[in-house]
Amino acid sequence: MNRLIVISNRVMLPSLNNKESAGGLGVAIEESLKRNGGVWFGWSGEISNDKKIEPEVLKNDNVTYVTLKLSPENYENFYNGYSNASLWPLLHYRLDLVEYSKKKYSGYQRVNSIFSDLISPFLLKEDIIWVQDYHFILLARELRKKKCTNKMGFFLHVPWPSKEVLMTLPDHKEIVESLLDYDVIGFQTKSYVLSFLDYIIREMNGTIDSDGFVFAKGKKVKVQHFPISIDTEKFIELSKNAVGSAHVNRLVESLGKSNLIIGVDRLDYSKGIINRFKAYENLLEKYPEHKRNSTLMQIAPISRGDVWQYKELRQELETEAGHINGLYSDFDWTPIRYLNRGFNRKILAGFFRRSQIGLVTPFRDGMNLVAKEYVAAQDPSNPGVLILSQFAGAAEELDGAIIVNPYDIEAITEAINISLKMSSEEKLHRWIRMIEQINEFDIHKWSKNCIKAIESITV
Ligand code: ADP
Ligand code: F6P
Repeated sequence: MNRLIVISNRVMLPSLNNKESAGGLGVAIEESLKRNGGVWFGWSGEISNDKKIEPEVLKNDNVTYVTLKLSPENYENFYNGYSNASLWPLLHYRLDLVEYSKKKYSGYQRVNSIFSDLISPFLLKEDIIWVQDYHFILLARELRKKKCTNKMGFFLHVPWPSKEVLMTLPDHKEIVESLLDYDVIGFQTKSYVLSFLDYIIREMNGTIDSDGFVFAKGKKVKVQHFPISIDTEKFIELSKNAVGSAHVNRLVESLGKSNLIIGVDRLDYSKGIINRFKAYENLLEKYPEHKRNSTLMQIAPISRGDVWQYKELRQELETEAGHINGLYSDFDWTPIRYLNRGFNRKILAGFFRRSQIGLVTPFRDGMNLVAKEYVAAQDPSNPGVLILSQFAGAAEELDGAIIVNPYDIEAITEAINISLKMSSEEKLHRWIRMIEQINEFDIHKWSKNCIKAIESITV
């Protein structure tokens, strides 16, 4: 078995092991690394003013963790800048929020190059390299420049947009050409694969064969979709164990007879939280019977708080939540509970299980794991309803959800109303279709399939 080299912006250090806060992706990567042995590279999450930044190396059995602090300039231009103010809004179709500058792109190129320097001395000839997400698109190109011939796979966790949207990015050519230096490119859904192929064919005069290989610019690359998932079994277990826990008891007590509608997202404009609030306001106006009988709990921890687009969103949501609560609250009932904080996974699983509706309405989302976690957490004897955006990758798989257009506030309102009145039989019928899907396709299968695809490339 070949060693695995993983590069991702965030690294789950072993000190986090076995804590309930660990997410499925981190756990799956760690599991794959332990199976094959290998090295996990990434940003430590810290900023350093030191002139020469040394990596921190930590060994735990057959896995080595190598993390690097970012200089203030790289933090600004690579992380806040090109990754999160240029690529993130672009890949999520928010052209109005894209901020572009050569300086940001240089920062992005520089950090990709720094990481290739960092990785190179650790590499053995047969190692398999597996790069995660939009922060490191240029990494294969940087490594190939250093004569690295290892098999390399890339997985994009976020959407891949249509050709027309992508081409608004001044560096679109270099970005796509750099991707062709990987041996395998993985996307979340079939439709992202199709958008990528459309660019390859129409902009690069590339061709595709029936095995999913792309031929362009003298390169041959396997392009495939690998829908990411969750550790379904573990999440089911967590949600069962959460029943009767102090947090869940307090939640149940505080709700009385009120139906709980839950939203859990990083505080990000791609998540469509604002329209969720507006739809709920609309519901209280249009269907007053849901006043006092329902509560919307939106959990949204601050994310990328140094980026201005995120600061503005925070203000907008606070204003909207305040407006709705001011208008509809009573001395013993508050319609929206808006919490800017995280919870550990067991508490979260317990909250999902106690909610009659999981409201997942992103404007765009590569996959959306919250949707799958909500399904896994349900009590089979009384499952809730998932309302899911048609623009979340998960909508390609979770056909038991009520699928909505997140831009259509009226449609979200109607979906909530229908869900609150849905029969137990229909809820169960819908839920079974979804749980079967995520039981079969879990995070373990995802990581095995991704690695198998890279391993089976012949170079
Ligand atoms: P993204 O990767 O864009 O943040 P996903 O829905 O795919 O969106 O994944 C988010 C992950 O973060 C999920 O596993 C979810 O449970 C977790 N998460 C989101 N918000 C919270 C929170 N407030 N507390 C704990 N975990 C959270
Ligand atoms: O899913 C997209 C993603 O960017 C992940 O790569 C990342 O771990 C998560 O969102 C949180 O964002 P950040 O690492 O910028 O805090």
